[in-house]
Amino acid sequence: MKRNAFITFEGIDGSGKTTQMELLKQKMLTYNIPNLFIRDPGTTAIGEKIRGLLLAPESGEMSLTAEVFLYAAARSQMVYEVINPALEQNIIVVCDRFIHSTLAYQGYGSGYDLETINFINREAMGSIWPDLTFIMDIEVEESFHRCLQKELNGNSKDRIEQRNFEFYNKVRKGYLALAKEDEKNVVVLPSGITVEEAHQKIWRKINERLDLGL
Ligand SMILES: Nc1ncnc2c1ncn2[C@@H]1O[C@H](COP(=O)(O)OP(=O)(O)O)[C@@H](O)[C@H]1O
Ligand SMILES: [Mg+2]
Repeated sequence: MKRNAFITFEGIDGSGKTTQMELLKQKMLTYNIPNLFIRDPGTTAIGEKIRGLLLAPESGEMSLTAEVFLYAAARSQMVYEVINPALEQNIIVVCDRFIHSTLAYQGYGSGYDLETINFINREAMGSIWPDLTFIMDIEVEESFHRCLQKELNGNSKDRIEQRNFEFYNKVRKGYLALAKEDEKNVVVLPSGITVEEAHQKIWRKINERLDLGL
């Protein structure tokens, strides 16, 4: 039975990543499965500082290359400091965003060369690549609607979120293209399904892939 795995959740804001990660965490706790839930960029001291730089509106306009390298640097530190040691201890690591976010946002969304993103991130990540990636698909309109709700509840938009519809549509399409390229490891949760339906699909897939027998 393979108990260690690196699982990532992807999708534009408001797509349901946090919701599904919380349900998954509960499930893992119920079955006493050693787990670690983290976020990218962030998690390490260096990573959280880089996250601050990337998301702060005060950072102003950042060169796309600087953006790609900062994400890769944060990721590299997290692989070194957190992910590799956890996997060595047979812990299942679940991460909110990872390499597919850079491919979707900086690549498909902003037009940075995908091969170059892959090259830089292979350097940053060493032997790590997600074993399983869940992409929460959502219409851009619905994402805006949900984010607006969040804003009404007091959360203000960060630098990355302050972009237009066209951009997010390219990101969404990018995610779907990435899933098509790697159907074995990248699973799309279609828009419009309920929280519980998505959770069941995710749990079934993890069970099957890790041979958990649950
Ligand atoms: N399948 C779903 N159907 C309807 N609403 C959902 C669904 N999944 C999540 N939501 C709601 O959408 C909002 C954003 O979800 P969240 O998990 O915070 O997204 P993300 O972490 O991807 O930004 C929350 O209010 C959540 O309750
Ligand atoms: Mg979230």
